[in-house]
Amino acid sequence: MNAEVKEVMAHVSGERLWERLMRLAEIGATPKGGVNRQAFTPEDAEARVLVAEWARELGFSVYQDDIGNLFLRRPGQDASRLPIVTGSHLDSQPTGGRFDGVLGVLVALEAIQAINEAGLDTLHPLEVVAWMNEEGSRYGPVCMGSSVYVGRMQLDEACRTVSTDGASLADELPHALAAVGDAGKREFGAPMAAYVETHIEQGPVLEEEGIQLGVVSGIQGIRWFQCEVTGSAAHAGTTPRRMRRDAGRAAMRMITALDDEFTDAEDSIRFTVGRFSVEPGSPNVVPDRVTFSIDLRHPDTATLDVLTDRIKVVCDELSGPCQVNVEQTGGVAPAAMAPWITDILAGVASDLGIFHKHIPSGAVHDASNMVAVCPVAMLFIPSHEGISHNEAESSEPEDCRAAAEVLASSLVRIDRQLGE
Ligand code: HGY
Ligand code: MN
Ligand code: MN
Repeated sequence: MNAEVKEVMAHVSGERLWERLMRLAEIGATPKGGVNRQAFTPEDAEARVLVAEWARELGFSVYQDDIGNLFLRRPGQDASRLPIVTGSHLDSQPTGGRFDGVLGVLVALEAIQAINEAGLDTLHPLEVVAWMNEEGSRYGPVCMGSSVYVGRMQLDEACRTVSTDGASLADELPHALAAVGDAGKREFGAPMAAYVETHIEQGPVLEEEGIQLGVVSGIQGIRWFQCEVTGSAAHAGTTPRRMRRDAGRAAMRMITALDDEFTDAEDSIRFTVGRFSVEPGSPNVVPDRVTFSIDLRHPDTATLDVLTDRIKVVCDELSGPCQVNVEQTGGVAPAAMAPWITDILAGVASDLGIFHKHIPSGAVHDASNMVAVCPVAMLFIPSHEGISHNEAESSEPEDCRAAAEVLASSLVRIDRQLGE
């Protein structure tokens, strides 16, 4: 390891990183030790403002695009060069954990701060990014901010979305943008030289195998659907089965049939119904409307296409006397990582004597969208018992620090390699 990288490493502070992680965990903290910091809420704004302040204290400049993606920039020697960008998201699930997303933003800040404190010049500007609304839990779809950034979703379409609690994104967006204060304007799709995202694995593999870091080999694709089944409300006691148009029974038949069909021997298909609502929702009224969500994932696009067709066919076949409408409401394609960057991440980990392995990502990330803009790679740290999207989510301080060290050194190597 050369002297300049050694100098950078010496400035990576695991304590500072952990303190910031715990400070952000206070924003939207839940009684069970997790966070509820959903996109476009005051808690989300508070987190974005705090991270922007930390960056300003380092002399970094703050930029924001029109959907609220936040960019914190350390200048390079050559301002004409495209930035090397690293980060993740600050928003959480309603019962989220203290590491999902926020780890990647703070590891990025720590890595670039260490480079800054080492006084090391990079040719390229270095930027921390905090993507807006990665989770898609309050306003769908998932990865909204980065989807708008890369042009896979239009801003006006995002502004038409209504939150699960009945708010309008068009109303809330101006407040989210104003919260960060005097930020420079970043245009959608502004080119980048490379993008690296650090994230918790959110699965059990690294911890089970005693491996400290994962170098992501690829990210599986995701598709979201909204299914609406409509029937007729009727009396639960007097209405014979032959006269019922029971939206509840039809919806349950559809979900059970799809779950059976999508249970493959390799356990490669991920089929989840996370949201299910029944109207009118009274115990003694046969339901006349049911809506349910489907989160479908697979590493192969052709397979996702086949499964998508099956969803529509099975729902139609099992609708009985009811009507059913299946609408795809979001999706991000499977994403391949850039081998030259994953080689750098793995090479740095090896130089530091850190156990690592190449691992596919079951979770989707903003990195999945960034492959449309530039070469992309991801770094994972272990999640305790693979728990995530759960308030009990946890990771170890030394793994967070190891990721910051590998990222800091890798950013320097990426800068040198791109500058050759
Ligand atoms: O759903 C996902 O895979 C991500 O954690 N939002
Ligand atoms: Mn995440
Ligand atoms: Mn998540």
